[in-house]
Amino acid sequence: MKTVLMSGGSSGIGKAIKEALIGEKYTVFTIGRNVAEIVCDLRDAEKLESEIKTWLKTHHVDVLINCAGVGLFDPHETLSIAKIKNMIDVNLSAPIILSNLCLRSLQKQQGHIINITSIEATRHAKYSALYTATKSGLRDFGHSLFEEVRKSGVKVTSINPDMTQTPFFNNLHFAPSDDIDTHLLPETIAQSVLDVLHIKGVVTDLTIRPQKVGIIKK
Ligand SMILES: NC(=O)c1ccc[n+]([C@@H]2O[C@H](COP(=O)([O-])OP(=O)(O)OC[C@H]3O[C@@H](n4cnc5c(N)ncnc54)[C@H](OP(=O)(O)O)[C@@H]3O)[C@@H](O)[C@H]2O)c1
Repeated sequence: MKTVLMSGGSSGIGKAIKEALIGEKYTVFTIGRNVAEIVCDLRDAEKLESEIKTWLKTHHVDVLINCAGVGLFDPHETLSIAKIKNMIDVNLSAPIILSNLCLRSLQKQQGHIINITSIEATRHAKYSALYTATKSGLRDFGHSLFEEVRKSGVKVTSINPDMTQTPFFNNLHFAPSDDIDTHLLPETIAQSVLDVLHIKGVVTDLTIRPQKVGIIKK
């Protein structure tokens, strides 16, 4: 039985990934602020370290999925320092810390790290400088880490989704349009995780986009 440790399993893309993995008989442990096996705010690095180290005494990791993330797309000068730190902590620091803590177990298991980044990790859009910094940082972290750990059998994948219909947009001033061709579904990203896990060889980078562009302003 393969064990998955994942963040972001309570909502949207992460929730769909969790359900898909359970459907494939993986044992899934989530890290989250509320509904989770390991209750922890990812911004609290000290607690995260202690919770994961304790958990690792009795568990191994076959797959680490870094899915939790937050977005904010406003002119950079309007962002508070607290919001800047918040996004870097959740989107970039936490996945790097979790990879660090789990790597020995992943090496033993010949495991797999899957980072859910974003289309914004692959391009440069306005009002996205901070988000882009966190997501392209995570994508490049994964690519570099793969070069380090491939000899020990560990795989590292960056999945870079375009607009996906989830609560991610609840507090943003835009959202994908309702036209099904203009957004992805969380289940599509979950299917791509299963595909990446099944394939012989290593998918290092996977960008998934809807067929058309369509955004509504709120
Ligand atoms: N939706 C899109 O269009 C899209 C496109 C590209 C990439 N992505 C990325 O996909 C990932 C999932 O996003 P989503 O669309 O599924 O959004 P979502 O529905 O808002 O889910 C976000 C998840 O992150 C968790 N999270 C946020 N802050 C946290 C914290 N401080 N500590 C622990 N967990 C925290 C949330 O958990 P709780 O709130 O329950 O604690 C939730 O499970 C994110 O990394 C996002 O950047 C999304």
